[in-house]
This record gives sequence, C-alpha cells and structure tokens, in this order.
Amino acid sequence: MNNFLSDPRFAGIQPFEKKLWLATPTMHGDEQKWVDDAIRTNWVSTVGANINEVERQIADYVGVQYAVALSAGTAALHLATKLAGEKLYGQARPNEGTLAGHKVFCSDVTFDASINPVAYEDGEAVFIDTEADTWNMCPKALEKAFEIYPEVKLIVVAHLYGTPGKMDEIKAIADRHGALIVEDAAESLGARYKLNGEWVETGALGNYNCISFNGNKIITGSAGGMFLTNSKEDADKVRKWSTQSREAAPWYQHEEVGYNYRMSNIVAGVVRGQIPYLDEHIAQKKAIYERYKEGLADLPVKMNPFDAAKSEPNFWLSCMIIDEDAMAPMVRGEQDYLYVHESGKSSPHEILDAIAAFNAEGRPIWKPMHMQPIYRTHAFITVEGNGRGKSNAYIAGSGIDVGADIFRRGLCLPSDNKMTAEQQDRVIEIIHRAFR
Ligand SMILES: Cc1ncc(COP(=O)(O)O)c(C=O)c1O
Repeated sequence: MNNFLSDPRFAGIQPFEKKLWLATPTMHGDEQKWVDDAIRTNWVSTVGANINEVERQIADYVGVQYAVALSAGTAALHLATKLAGEKLYGQARPNEGTLAGHKVFCSDVTFDASINPVAYEDGEAVFIDTEADTWNMCPKALEKAFEIYPEVKLIVVAHLYGTPGKMDEIKAIADRHGALIVEDAAESLGARYKLNGEWVETGALGNYNCISFNGNKIITGSAGGMFLTNSKEDADKVRKWSTQSREAAPWYQHEEVGYNYRMSNIVAGVVRGQIPYLDEHIAQKKAIYERYKEGLADLPVKMNPFDAAKSEPNFWLSCMIIDEDAMAPMVRGEQDYLYVHESGKSSPHEILDAIAAFNAEGRPIWKPMHMQPIYRTHAFITVEGNGRGKSNAYIAGSGIDVGADIFRRGLCLPSDNKMTAEQQDRVIEIIHRAFR
C-alpha cells in the first residue's frame, strides 16, 4: 500500500484527528428518556409502551396499517420471506423451509441479509442483474428471468443505499406473473417513490415489507428492525412467530416453529427517541450528497444516480462511480486487492486507501451476490438472459454484468451526518489528489 501521508500528491493535507466514519448513530437525548422510562417502570423485556409507540409511529410515517417491531432487519426479512413462502406453497414441516424446492428472484447488489432468508427457508435465490439508473434490480433482467423460470412466484427487492428501485415496473412485472414481493427497505426508511402518480414510502411498496434500525442506518435503535404490512393477519402471524409461536394454552403449546425475534422495550426506547429526528437526518444526508456532487463535479466520476421525477431517496450513503476511461488498473482476489496509479486516473481501492490514510472511512460497493462464493452456483440473469458462462476462450467479447461493473468502479464515501462541511471538503480534496 502506498504511503499516502508522504506522497507529494497529498502534500499539505492533514489527517483527521478524530476518525471520520462511514455512518454512525446520532443520539439526540430523547433516547435516554425513553430507555430510562423502560427501566424505571421495569418494562425492560419484549413488551411495553416504547414498543407499542414505535410500532404506531413508524406505521404512521410509512403509511401502513401495521408494524411489528423485531430484533433486527434480518429477523424481519426472515419472517417476511417465510410468510411469503407459506402463502405461496403452504405450511412447511418443522424440519423444512417454506421455500423448499422453489426459486426466488433476488436483488443482486445488496447486503447478503436481504437474501439469506431465502436460504434459511430452503429456497434457491436466482440473482437479477442491476440497472445503471438507480443501481437497483433491473426490470428488464427481471422480465428475462420470468421468461427462463416462469414458475417463480416470489421476488426479494432491496433499495440500495436509500435510493428506491424502479418499483412501478417491478410491481407491474410481478403482477403480470402473479408473483409476490418482499421489500427490503432496510437502508431506505424515509425514501419515497412515485407509484402511479402518488408518493409512497419505501417500506409500503411490497407485499411484505422490512426496515432496519441497525446502528449505521438513517435512524437506529442500536439494533432492531420492523415488519410492515396492511394485513392484520400477517402482522399477527409475524408477532406470534417472533415470540416462539405460542398457541392459546396455559402451557407452552406449539404447532409451528417459533423464533425469539421480538424487539426489546429498551431498544424500542432508543428507536422512539430517534423517530422525531428522521427527517432531520435525511436532510443532513441530502446535503452531504449534494456537497459531494458539487465538489466532485470536475472529476471523471458520477454520484450514485436516482430518478428525481419518481423518487426522493433518503441519501443514506453517498457513493461515487469512476468513469471507465478514468479507471486505473485494479484487481481483486477473494480477500485482497492490488492497484497501480496512473496520472489523471484512480480506482476505488486507491481512493479508499487514501481516505483511510487520512483517518476517514469509506467502503466498497456491496459485492454482488452472484459473485459471492456462497452463491456461485446460483443462476444470475441479466438483460441478455443467463448471465453465467458468458466468456468464450475462442471468441472475443463477453456478456453484460451491470452489478459487477458498479462493484468494480464504485465506492461508498464517508456519509456520517455529523461530518462538518470542512471535513467533507477535505475528503473531496483527497479524492481530487488521488486523480493527480
Ligand atoms: C439492504 C439491507 N438489508 C438487510 C439488512 C439487515 O438489517 P439488520 O442489520 O437490522 O439485521 C441491512 C443492514 O444491516 C441492509 O443494509
């Protein structure tokens, strides 16, 4: 690794005294009050006023009728996926998942928590390539996937980095094929999408919807997540499953497999204190995105894109992608990487290493799921159809893979909402110097 601190290209730039993080929790004080309230009243377990209140407030904010507070976004995604599987294929035996023997179309560029629940439920994820306009599931590739696997009835779709995907097209395709949607809005709470002329919050766009209160999200409970729905029956079922699936008997009676997935009233106290600041956090994140956009405008890079006519992202993470002709050589192995510098060019890892040397944290784009060792044997569908095995030892050229390209050329920038304008300008300057 280059020693950026002594590299003449970076002369005169001071390292940050305190580390500048990618995205950290931002406490406001109200959290303490609701946590103290839980402790003072002895309601510290998985029942209590904080839980009831955050369920009510988030359901109101997102515009759904029911919210079920859970221990994590992953727990919400698991129960949402299980519920979809049960709706489609019936109740599974205790030793089998509800998706056993069935394929599920999944977002490809996302955190693996989006799609691992398909495996928990014994289903087989088929990865759908990404589109360049919003970095989310590509409707054209989804349509291709239905041509190849017309029997599929479930789609798991995530909104990357707080930017809604093309949900009008995705929902229309799902409807045409009689498929259900699990919506992963873990990163996009507060982002909105214009669906058939009406603004709808992410988290209200699928048949089964999930959000996260993980520590790095737009608001946090230190941990936690929620299942969101307009179906009372589904909300009741998820609440039952999340508290060990007890039947109505004086003893512990079980007819279904259960989970210990309910949110605690302490965690809910933190969430309760954060909810009033959701819009403020979004405004801060938006300002960060816009400052990067302006500050990087003279470089051969673009910000993560969104469709301004149809979406209002929550700008959770600001990202950039380097123009192809400004990419310096960079290779990645399974666990390490190597790059060289070329004048006027740079690469994601050179930039990430440079900002790390000055004590700031960025991150690579999520590595696409179809490239992950664990899912290497799963199908991957692009706008051209089957995306696997596209190169040929005897013929030049190879297939389209938008997700792999965004992963190769993109990176997540420090996006902490407590970052000052001066600090952000320093990050912008470091990025400029990396291209010298
Ligand atoms: C897209 C996406 N899905 C799911 C999750 C999982 O949420 P949690 O960490 O609350 O389990 C996260 C983040 O952590 C995420 O970014």
